[in-house]
Amino acid sequence: MDSQLDISLILKKIEGLPKGLQNHIHRTRKIAKSLAERYQVDLTQVDYAMASHDLARNLSDNELLKLADDLKIPVSSIEVQSPVLLHGPVAAKWLEHEFNILNPDVLQAVWFHTTGTSDFHIIGKIVFISDKLDPAKKLRFPHFDVIEQAVFEDLNYAILNYLIDLISIQEGRQKTAHPLTYAFKKLLEKQYQI
Ligand SMILES: [Fe+2]
Ligand SMILES: [Fe+2]
Repeated sequence: MDSQLDISLILKKIEGLPKGLQNHIHRTRKIAKSLAERYQVDLTQVDYAMASHDLARNLSDNELLKLADDLKIPVSSIEVQSPVLLHGPVAAKWLEHEFNILNPDVLQAVWFHTTGTSDFHIIGKIVFISDKLDPAKKLRFPHFDVIEQAVFEDLNYAILNYLIDLISIQEGRQKTAHPLTYAFKKLLEKQYQI
């Protein structure tokens, strides 16, 4: 792992993104930084992951499918239906290949930041929930304020509450959540015996 990597290389790449996306990334970096401090997780590693998570978010469906093919990212029928799900895996591959970031916990955090995964390292959990706690997303789920408050007391509990909101919203729209999201929620439910 190249712990000496200059974050400025990633910041340079962010500068090429649409302004709204840049702002989202910087807001989430602030949230992730405070969570990393709260949970005593390596700030630098969290920031590599948070700063990179949406580097491929502006790409079109076709661009993402083409890159997934080039980068040998497994594509199932779910990703074919929703290629946007590939923006995390593509960014994780870039992080590895372009920035030589090899920390598996950082790569996992970026790869799975959209769906979550039940074996998330704490870096992944911080990136996952910080992404959702961008104040610009406040109106997207009903318990935003509760989750925003809970996240500094109990990270897993806050994530579980977010997942409950997310899945109920998606099911209300007759959509199913990603299997990894269900699995992640199930694991946390077991922990809290819900
Ligand atoms: Fe994203
Ligand atoms: Fe994001």
